Amino acid sequence: MTRPERSRSFGAAAEDYDRLRPAPVPAALRWLLPSSEVTVLDLGAGTGLVSRSLAAAGVADVVAVEPDDAMRAVLAARSPGARALAGTAEDIPLPDASVDAVLASSAWHWFDPDRATAEVARVLRPGGVLGLLWSFADPATDWVAELRHLQRADDAGNEDSTSGVRAGFAIDLPDGAPFGAGSSEVFRRRTWMAADDVAAMLGTYSTVLTLRPEERAEVRRAAREVIARRVGTDPVRVPFATAVWRATRLASDI
Ligand SMILES: C[S@@+](CC[C@H](N)C(=O)[O-])C[C@H]1O[C@@H](n2cnc3c(N)ncnc32)[C@H](O)[C@@H]1O
Repeated sequence: MTRPERSRSFGAAAEDYDRLRPAPVPAALRWLLPSSEVTVLDLGAGTGLVSRSLAAAGVADVVAVEPDDAMRAVLAARSPGARALAGTAEDIPLPDASVDAVLASSAWHWFDPDRATAEVARVLRPGGVLGLLWSFADPATDWVAELRHLQRADDAGNEDSTSGVRAGFAIDLPDGAPFGAGSSEVFRRRTWMAADDVAAMLGTYSTVLTLRPEERAEVRRAAREVIARRVGTDPVRVPFATAVWRATRLASDI
């Protein structure tokens, strides 16, 4: 399966995705957005995990752009506080200089970096923030690292390369992109989840979604076994992290 095909694999599990994937750690959104009196674009918004968090945090105007019909349908149904639009990062259906912040959550790695950066620079007002974030079960805990291995998260071309994420990590935008220096941070929390939901969560990653049904079932069975052996409780207290990076759109193009 090609990378573009994998990037559009999530709709097949849209309901599970929305139920099982972690929303960002709230402090991460506060770090990214200086104020709630803003228009925020949630790019590659999926089922709306971030759009809902933004609306719940009182952000004045949330626009969600998502190409996959099944993901966007869940978003529209569950995120009444957000305007849901069909579109891609490479062709954003918004006017020039129309938003104060663009957030891409667990999504930037799927975009064409040159075209997406140019589009984000176009729709952002000068002084606006580009915020990239990834939320994930934290592999600093050894049983989570074992689950990531089952999930094939560290295979070449994986959908998030968060295993090495630490505060101070860097994102390289294309040369000449009109953004100031980036800064980054990692926020953590622990959440109780049913053991079977933790195992099922692995099935919402493209590396597992694109396996054959019998292989997906085997990943879930093996994940249950790891959790039972390594954690031994149900529910399970799962360590999550949200890694965030932000940079400000400069007043003029370089
Ligand atoms: C891992 S999901 C993240 C969804 C959501 N942002 C979240 O944090 O849960 C990646 C999302 O990016 C979307 N996507 C893939 N390629 C895209 C592109 N070129 N432009 C915009 N979104 C894209 C997928 O359809 C999917 O909904």
